[in-house]
Amino acid sequence: MAHTRTQPATLAPEALGPVTPEEAVLLKKLDLARLPRHIAVIMDGNGRWAQKRHLLRVAGHRAGTQSARTTIETCARLHVEALTLYAFSVENWRRPKAEIEFLMQLLRDYLRKEMPLLQRNNVRMRFLGRPEELPAGVQKDTREATEETARNTGMVLSIALNYGGRAEIVDAMNAILMERNGHGGTQPVTEELLARHLYTAELPDPDLLIRTSGEMRVSNFLLWQIAYAEIFVTETLWPDFNRARLLEALLDFQKRERRYGGIDSERGAAARAAR
Ligand code: FPP
Repeated sequence: MAHTRTQPATLAPEALGPVTPEEAVLLKKLDLARLPRHIAVIMDGNGRWAQKRHLLRVAGHRAGTQSARTTIETCARLHVEALTLYAFSVENWRRPKAEIEFLMQLLRDYLRKEMPLLQRNNVRMRFLGRPEELPAGVQKDTREATEETARNTGMVLSIALNYGGRAEIVDAMNAILMERNGHGGTQPVTEELLARHLYTAELPDPDLLIRTSGEMRVSNFLLWQIAYAEIFVTETLWPDFNRARLLEALLDFQKRERRYGGIDSERGAAARAAR
């Protein structure tokens, strides 16, 4: 599988809308034929952003929705194939009840408010995680957002919601066991079979994992899928992660030499093709 996307090397000048002088300089350096196919983002630092301003933590989450909007729209317009945002982990239930309720309501409001933007940008939306453990209203809204965008043919936007990487692998194994239901028990489980049962079955693995706010952790996010992802950690707090910071992450990705365990990227590609 190719890990960069072949696409026109030029972008219509108006594709991103008005750009700042800083963004224009960064865009000029970007090779549009070598963008990641799939970008995954750990949106961290909302609480610290709010604390620095003597605001409540939830104000940071609210401000973070603007960064989500900018990232989604920019990636869609750059024709990135897939974007996955980590919105709520299975561990996040340990937060204060009021913060959890705020986050759930923020997501519901966001889905309602941003639907025109998603439709305008031909974005197909889906959710990764265990939906059955979410409040009924959230389940309904996420189902509707999935259905309303199901026929869009552009970027696939996945929101990881009540998501855990280990839980996902356990769910995949259980799905395989259920399917077999006592049959074919001696057939070994292969990497391909397991990958086909992950929440992300139809997506390429992320090529680029972005984490904001400086923590050097993976935090149980897409554990299987990020095996070969390039990791970009920035000190920028998520609410400050604007379009220029995103373009910097993409430029940094383009400087990396990807070897997939081989000697150089050519051999890596050959080895993958031979598998
Ligand atoms: C981590 O910051 C962020 C979250 C747990 C929530 C992320 C949610 C949003 C950005 C809301 C909008 C998202 C969508 C997709 C609508 P933190 O609270 O852990 O920050 P801290 O580490 O500074 O405390």
